[in-house]
Amino acid sequence: MVVNTIKFLLNNELVEIENLDPNLTVLQYLREEQFKSGTKEGCASGDCGACTVVLAELDTENSEQLTYKSINSCITFIGNLHGKQLITVEDLKDGAKLHHAQQTIVDNHGSQCGFCTPGFVMSSFALHKHNQKPNRAEVLEALAGNLCRCTGYRSIIEAAMTSSEANQEDSFAKHYQQTIITLTELEKLPTPSLNGNGNTYIAPQNIDELAIELTNEPKSTLVAGGTDLALSVTQNLAVVKKLVYVGNVAELTTIEETESEIVIGSALPYSDFIDTLHHHYPDLGDMIERIGAKQVRNTGTLGGNVGNASPIGDMPPALIALGATMTLHLNGTERTILVEDFFLDYKKTVLKTSEFIKSITIPKPVAGQTLKLYKISKRLDDDISAVLAAFFIEQDGEKVTNVRLAFGGMAGIPKRGPAAEAALLGNNLTKESVAQAKAALATDFQPMTDVRATDKYRMTVAQNLIEKCYLELQSAHKRKAIETRVVNY
Ligand SMILES: Cc1cc2nc3c(=O)[nH]c(=O)nc-3n(C[C@H](O)[C@H](O)[C@H](O)COP(=O)(O)OP(=O)(O)OC[C@H]3O[C@@H](n4cnc5c(N)ncnc54)[C@H](O)[C@@H]3O)c2cc1C
Ligand code: FES
Ligand code: FES
Repeated sequence: MVVNTIKFLLNNELVEIENLDPNLTVLQYLREEQFKSGTKEGCASGDCGACTVVLAELDTENSEQLTYKSINSCITFIGNLHGKQLITVEDLKDGAKLHHAQQTIVDNHGSQCGFCTPGFVMSSFALHKHNQKPNRAEVLEALAGNLCRCTGYRSIIEAAMTSSEANQEDSFAKHYQQTIITLTELEKLPTPSLNGNGNTYIAPQNIDELAIELTNEPKSTLVAGGTDLALSVTQNLAVVKKLVYVGNVAELTTIEETESEIVIGSALPYSDFIDTLHHHYPDLGDMIERIGAKQVRNTGTLGGNVGNASPIGDMPPALIALGATMTLHLNGTERTILVEDFFLDYKKTVLKTSEFIKSITIPKPVAGQTLKLYKISKRLDDDISAVLAAFFIEQDGEKVTNVRLAFGGMAGIPKRGPAAEAALLGNNLTKESVAQAKAALATDFQPMTDVRATDKYRMTVAQNLIEKCYLELQSAHKRKAIETRVVNY
């Protein structure tokens, strides 16, 4: 059954909405429908963090607990709030008393014009809900998606570092049990939908419902986190006629490990699988920590990153290098293909009408294999890649027995460099074979010039990354040899 209502907690109050255009973002809803203007609009594209709010949800592993996540309200569609608690800056203070995430900003002189301040406060609030004593790196990670143009970051970071020292129970802690009860009740409701201005939104709850919805309405647009899709609405003023949200589909939001593989549901946000991937592939975990900022990783998904088919998406080259596969679902029938075979041309994929990505399967590493990832962007945090290089190399001694060199930002689609790979495969990894691979790469790619980099820069950096990978492997081998000698001695 489908009901034409979206229900969620706005702070501690149950809200029911209907007849609103589902293209509305959470930010627009807060400011224009609720007249809560504490949440600011800076960029409307997920870059500045001024619009940061917090979503509390039932923990998927323990429904007796809540998780608190910072998100960018400017690129989150209103329908995605169903079944969650939306926490905004207005309700942090208890009566006249500021929340400690706010008070420490005052105490540390962390605000001048104040435009960015609500966003910083909300990022700090989300951090301290799970981590009472964050270290500096954790604070930086939590605040990396928030920009301030006037105060400077030292005092804001100081404030977030000390925020929990005066940690007192806030109104959300006081309502914790009641919030769990309400969200549990909302979870049991029939499939929610929203209709307004002739546009519709629906959030199927299982894979069959999703498949039927897409078969019946093949022109629907899938939305997961919306961190790509919402930009077409906020930046290009597109209107999406029919949004189908995949974030409530149980089968698409799981992560499973077998002895040899990790299977990640296409609609699971990065934050929910980063630790698992970091454990098996530290380079991959580090790279994911550079996808957008915390707010983007809290909602953005693998299905959205691959499904968007952008030539500069960070995950596709990594998945191609890893030999990952993806399961596609069409009206009850599934097929599994290599991620490498998904991309046909710029923004064109093998997805058939009504078909969607169910999951991505990543093989676990075995001895002798190396994965190296290099993200080249102008800034460390919250920036799109000019080039993303992903190298998978398997060796028997010095000899390369298997190699996949995949790149993003070098062509209209993420793809491998077959000529460069051929220069390495079957040969020892030496200065000479690496020089040949670098030269061969020029026949694999003719990169373009755009705002992020020139064609020459892209080619030079991609070639040099092959050499960097070789030098890092050499020094790792040398270190290992020294460690072995020390142990043997
Ligand atoms: C500020 C900012 C910084 C960013 N930084 C990076 C970055 O550093 N690296 C990077 O790679 N990306 C970056 N992105 C882009 C984006 O966050 C990622 O691509 C993210 O993974 C998209 O996931 P999503 O769930 O939000 O996708 P959505 O926006 O929901 O969807 C994107 C596309 O995929 C389709 N889709 C979604 N789910 C499925 C599915 N299951 N099957 C088929 N199609 C599907 C949608 O229809 C849509 O066309 C950034 C975005 C922002 C706003
Ligand atoms: S307004 Fe800048 S991130 Fe939302
Ligand atoms: S206080 Fe002015 S932008 Fe940060």
